[in-house]
Amino acid sequence: MGKLDGKVAIVTGAARGLGRSYAKRLAGLGAKVAVADLNLHSYEEFEAEAKDMTGDSTVAEIEASGGSAFGIEVDVTDHEAVNAMVARVVQEWGRVDVLVANAGGGRGRPMDTKASNLDPALLQLVVGMNLFGTVYAVNAVAPTMKEQRSGKIITVSSVAGTAPSADGGYAHYGAAKAAIAHYTRYLAQDLGPFGITANCIAPGVIATGRIMATVIPGSAQSNRDRSELVALRRLGSVEDCARVVEFLATDLSDYVTGAVIPIDGGLVRG
Ligand SMILES: NC(=O)c1ccc[n+]([C@@H]2O[C@H](COP(=O)([O-])OP(=O)(O)OC[C@H]3O[C@@H](n4cnc5c(N)ncnc54)[C@H](O)[C@@H]3O)[C@@H](O)[C@H]2O)c1
Repeated sequence: MGKLDGKVAIVTGAARGLGRSYAKRLAGLGAKVAVADLNLHSYEEFEAEAKDMTGDSTVAEIEASGGSAFGIEVDVTDHEAVNAMVARVVQEWGRVDVLVANAGGGRGRPMDTKASNLDPALLQLVVGMNLFGTVYAVNAVAPTMKEQRSGKIITVSSVAGTAPSADGGYAHYGAAKAAIAHYTRYLAQDLGPFGITANCIAPGVIATGRIMATVIPGSAQSNRDRSELVALRRLGSVEDCARVVEFLATDLSDYVTGAVIPIDGGLVRG
């Protein structure tokens, strides 16, 4: 018996990286999982992600290990499309127990995204995919969860949403992620009376294929430098984050709501 047998989960941005690990973890606990992503083959963009795949998609991987899943290509910044995605899940499986609103990320270079000279297009894009995408997904699942009088919502901030970068770069991303954390506190108050919890995770530097290819330059030297800012002296793994998602998606966290949980190994931003 899995802890999530009979439950239904939606994970956005689940075609690669952290979202993929959340989807696989929840499926491993017995949940039926809707894998929602702009592109269900987005792992092809990064060699390390593609190499890590054991099937043609997250859905295929889940099915190969005996789980139930289906994939939906959806842009979380498109309100109507997100509503349609959730409606399809409810039509297919009759309920929604867990939402992991994971889709998001940053765009642009730190030098073009300093707090005092933010490019408006980048600001719009990043606030759209992170904050608006999260709110749309929550709005779409809330009526079903309220009707059930149960549900677990997990949103995704970042260390960048808790502490600024030392040079003020990537301010659009930090502001969007800070907004998600604070929005989640409001959400917990709003939905608590319905028996629904809402919590936020704030990952530090997690070694996804994208992070290793873009944020951490290829040299061992820069990896070491980055790890030295982490109390535990290593970058995070997707499993480090998936374990916390398991806690927040199961009854282990039934009396936890409105929390913002750092998963950063004790990182102090340099
Ligand atoms: N990796 C890290 O170190 C780290 C740290 C802090 C926070 N985060 C956050 O965790 C989440 C996942 O990070 P990751 O490193 O796995 O990212 P990633 O870029 O590897 O994966 C993101 C996935 O989301 C999908 N996606 C992007 N925009 C979308 C949209 N508009 N609609 C639907 N799907 C969309 C992409 O296709 C991709 O499959 C993001 O919200 C990111 O900001 C990551």
